[in-house]
Formats: sequence, structure tokens, C-alpha cells
Amino acid sequence: MTAMRAASDRGAPAERAQAAAAAGPGRGEIRCSGLYKWYGQTAVLSGLDLTVANGEFVCVVGPSGCGKTTLLRMMAGLAEYDHGTITIGGEKVTAPLAQVAVVFQHFGLFPWKTVYNNVALPLRAAGLDKAEVRRRVAEAIALVGLEGVDDRYPAQLSGGMKQRVGLARTLALRPEVILLDEPFAAVDAQTREILQEELLGLWSRHRQTALFITHSIDEAITLADRVVVMGTKPGRVVDDIVVPIPRPRTVGSVRRHESYAPLRERIWEQLRASGSPT
Ligand SMILES: Nc1ncnc2c1ncn2[C@@H]1O[C@H](COP(=O)(O)OP(=O)(O)O)[C@@H](O)[C@H]1O
Ligand SMILES: [Mg+2]
Repeated sequence: MTAMRAASDRGAPAERAQAAAAAGPGRGEIRCSGLYKWYGQTAVLSGLDLTVANGEFVCVVGPSGCGKTTLLRMMAGLAEYDHGTITIGGEKVTAPLAQVAVVFQHFGLFPWKTVYNNVALPLRAAGLDKAEVRRRVAEAIALVGLEGVDDRYPAQLSGGMKQRVGLARTLALRPEVILLDEPFAAVDAQTREILQEELLGLWSRHRQTALFITHSIDEAITLADRVVVMGTKPGRVVDDIVVPIPRPRTVGSVRRHESYAPLRERIWEQLRASGSPT
């Protein structure tokens, strides 16, 4: 398993996904099958199937209102589904699972707590002892480059820094699965690219299973092993595309890759066919 993982890390995304699938579900595999969700009379998701292999990075794009957030909340154990199943690491999701962490667009920071205490809060809630909390907070803050601002309050931080605190708080939990719902949508374009590169670096070191929702086609191609395109009314998977761009990646290396433009075009066409791409 370890050897296979090490070998698979060096391969192309498709080979990595295959190797991961051959290795068994692992604690990070997400499997949704035949998923239905209604709000009243309205079907939001209709027979959705989606698998994310252990250690794979999948981006989901789709028109506004197609059910992306609903899907993520169901995977996180924060919303119920009406039919079908979701399993993570082979375990049926009926409540939040310990190995799964979520990052939302609105950072969800407590304004009356310092950066340190915002990152420490879930660790304390998980019952870790003081020394372990201190060790993990320091490590997570260093990972996202927030050293020296531990004592600041959220109001004293830029949007990009707030999102780093949100990421640090998630990473400190050492999750095996990270679910991210448009985490960089609220920051300016330049900060967004910096955060994308930081996330690529962080992820390449830890290789958690990641499901990342975005409305940006560029962001999806930059980050993902696979891009899943959802259609609307009702929500379902309309395309599932392997991104054949090798890692390590930078924003620049992705844009220069020969498959970047055709991929962008294909996703754009899918979105245009299924509704407005927001
Ligand atoms: N709690 C809710 N009650 C009723 N309708 C909802 C609720 N949450 C979401 N919806 C509806 O479900 C659909 C999908 O929403 P959402 O998952 O937020 O889409 P997305 O994240 O893709 O924009 C939308 O039409 C939305 O209005
Ligand atoms: Mg949403």
C-alpha cells in the first residue's frame, strides 16, 4: 500500500486514480451513488453518481443552483439525502465523520477570538490535550505562512489572510478528506492565484482526498486531477474530465500546458449547454 502510494504519487493523474482505486477504498475514498435530494416538490439532485478516489483532487463546477453546496453538505454529514448512499472510507455518512473537514467561502472565523484561538478551537473541541493543541496550531500556522499574526483578530486581517486561517484550522485537524466550497471566491484575483499555489503545495505534501467546488474553470483546471461538471434542474453529473497536466504545477505551468485551452473550451461548452457558468 505504501509502495503503491509512493509510486502512484509520481504518475499522471489518471494512473494515480487507477492505482488508488486498485489499493482499495482507504479512509479517504468518497463514493456517492444514486443520490436524490428534494426540497419540497423540487428535485435538487437526481440520481447523482460520483466517486473520488483516496488521495485524489476533484473539482466540481456547475451553474449556480445546480446543487453543489447541497452535495458537499451531504458529504460532510451536515444535510440529509433522500435516496441513494454516500460512503467515505467505506463508512456510510449519516453524521459528520472524524476524518472529514470542511472549508466554506465565508471563513467562519469567530471575530472575538484571535487567529491562534480560531485555529485551536476545533482541536480543543476534539478533546486534544494542551500540548498537542499547541503543537498542531503552530504547525498549521506555519504551513499557511501566518507566523507572527497569532495574536491578531479577524478584523485585523485581509481576506486572503482570513482564508489562510480557515485553511489552517482545517489542516490542524489532520483530515483525510477536505471538502471546500468556493473557498477563494471572496478574495481578489491576485490573492486567489497565490492561494491556489499555496494549496497546490500543501496538498502535494499531504495528498488528502480533496473535493473542491468552484465557479472558476481556470481554478478547476489548475488544481484538479479530475473536473466534474454538474448540470442543473435537476442536478446531475454531465461530464467528468481527467486533467492530464503533470504535477508539481504552478498557475503559470498550467496555463502554458498544451491541453489547457482545449480543456477550458470543453468545460465552457458543457456549462453553456447546462446553464450560466456561475
Ligand atoms: N434549505 C433549502 N431549502 C430549500 N431549497 C434549498 C435549500 N438549500 C438550497 N436550496 C435550493 O436547492 C438548489 C441547489 O442549491 P445549492 O446546493 O446551494 O446550489 P449551488 O451551490 O450549486 O449554487 C437551489 O435551487 C436552492 O435554491
Ligand atoms: Mg453553492
